[in-house]
Amino acid sequence: MANNFQQNNITMASQESLNTNAAIDFNTIKKATVKEMQAVDKLILTELHSDVELINKIGHYIIGNGGKRLRPMLLLLASKALKKTTEHHITLATVIEFLHTATLLHDDVIDESSMRRGQASANSVWGNATSVLVGDFLYSNAFHIMVRTKNFEVMEIVSQTTTELTEGEILQLLNCHNPDTTEAEYLEVITRKTAILFKAAARLASIMSDATTSETQGLVKYGQHLGIAFQLIDDALDYTANSAETLGKNLGDDLAEGKPTLPLIYAMKQAPSEQAKIIIDAIKNGSRDSFQAVYEVVKSTNAISDTLQRADAEASQAISELAILEDSEYKDALILLAKFSIQRNY
Ligand code: IPE
Ligand code: IPE
Ligand code: MG
Ligand code: MG
Repeated sequence: MANNFQQNNITMASQESLNTNAAIDFNTIKKATVKEMQAVDKLILTELHSDVELINKIGHYIIGNGGKRLRPMLLLLASKALKKTTEHHITLATVIEFLHTATLLHDDVIDESSMRRGQASANSVWGNATSVLVGDFLYSNAFHIMVRTKNFEVMEIVSQTTTELTEGEILQLLNCHNPDTTEAEYLEVITRKTAILFKAAARLASIMSDATTSETQGLVKYGQHLGIAFQLIDDALDYTANSAETLGKNLGDDLAEGKPTLPLIYAMKQAPSEQAKIIIDAIKNGSRDSFQAVYEVVKSTNAISDTLQRADAEASQAISELAILEDSEYKDALILLAKFSIQRNY
């Protein structure tokens, strides 16, 4: 593993493992922004409204009462740690959650996923075409809401973010069914498709709170490392989650799409060639049928614990970037958010 950490510029020497810490209670993190998140939820409901009844129905179904709301929470916690939270932060937290949910609607069509946020996915209830169009509605509505800030830097960041996120999803599509995908190629995908939104949340908060350059840099790097850690855990959970009920989505979706995620990249390297071939064939064919066989190979290696260690190192790095901020309960909540992201089981 030492090579992997060095390769990605993560120095573990001064960082303790975060996974040995006591379990993180998500409610403790939530408490720090209860009032602001209520305002975000209210704005989400207002902005979901459309004259087209089907949009209302699906919008409420997917976003009305589901999801952990981590990205808007990050944006608000950052603003509070910077001691300036405005109406624009509420607006932009809503923008970020709309963008996130739009990507999920599209992602479930691409990944052919039948479960999302603990219920049947929108595509499995209303079909692919409807899901894609409601995703488009959320995307464009997010842009519509963003314009209210009348801030060109904000507009530049949000449009750049959605462009890069889509590039990430397309790069991932190109890697699908390719067992030769490297760790670096995988990291590029997750940086673009997932970390980018966490990064944007941090940057938008910083702009609206008049953060200094070094505070902004620290928070943006925090978002980037946290986002990578978050997706590494998501990719481990696709194999190791307790159950679909706990996870809120089906296990095995990545294998079904032939996605070469880090647990498989590590397992292919570590397993004897005969076992590695089981994974190679499963990635090439992209089938749910070989899940058990692939999981047995993964379990026989250190692939999962190495992936978790990699996530742990990213979360540690995220936390160390917060040193630039003054101590506060909000900075503590940001630290807990990084710890929660790697301890979570949903
Ligand atoms: C799911 O994100 C998509 C990934 C980037 C892995 P979340 O796990 O934050 O999804 P919700 O919003 O809580 O459903
Ligand atoms: C994250 O990837 C999707 C986006 C960033 C859009 P996944 O495909 O792993 O997300 P889940 O597991 O379906 O939530
Ligand atoms: Mg998916
Ligand atoms: Mg996933």
